[in-house]
Amino acid sequence: MTRGKFITLEGVDGAGKSTHLAFIADWLRGQGREVVVTREPGGTPLGETLRELLLHQPMDPDTELLLMFAARQQHLAERILPALARGAWVVSDRFTDASYAYQCGGRGIAVERVAVLEAWVQRGFSPDLTLLFDVPPEVAEARRAAVRAADRFEREADSFFARVRNAYLDRARAEPSRIRVLDARQSIAALQDEIRALLQSLA
Ligand code: TYD
Repeated sequence: MTRGKFITLEGVDGAGKSTHLAFIADWLRGQGREVVVTREPGGTPLGETLRELLLHQPMDPDTELLLMFAARQQHLAERILPALARGAWVVSDRFTDASYAYQCGGRGIAVERVAVLEAWVQRGFSPDLTLLFDVPPEVAEARRAAVRAADRFEREADSFFARVRNAYLDRARAEPSRIRVLDARQSIAALQDEIRALLQSLA
């Protein structure tokens, strides 16, 4: 049995990545793949309980980071790794790049701390492809403003999201073959063409 591929979607809140999840899953299923669609924080019953806390309960930044990785450990053990082992492709709305972007870029936690947790939880495992939906701050801000019940992250200042975006772009520069930057200001159709080409190159 060939191991499946692991694809992650990233971007600041308001970049519009969620719109493309369904397209990716449908396209892969059309190629005859078993597809597991999931998200972080979350993806398991325990992870979804942690997500509720992470999105709504005030907490220390290091507590936030540790809970993100606790949820990630459970997600890998219970859902992602078993699915990949049976040959399914897994598409996750966010993964560890979000911890570097939000907890390091946004909150100011040292990159080394996240690297320690990444090595602990992932043991060298990482996504096969990461799509980074990139938009200028003002575009993301306008899209966020349309969200009614903002969570703890979505209520952050514009400067927070500017740092998150820069941290994402830094990671993309460091790992250009895994992290593909997509200009999320383009039309949905244009983005789908780009995404399809990237998925084809992975298969
Ligand atoms: P998000 O994926 O944007 O979900 P929705 O589209 O339903 O709002 O929300 C998850 C939030 O969690 C997002 O603001 C980013 C944050 N987050 C981190 O800060 N660190 C992480 O490691 C992950 C996975 C998410």
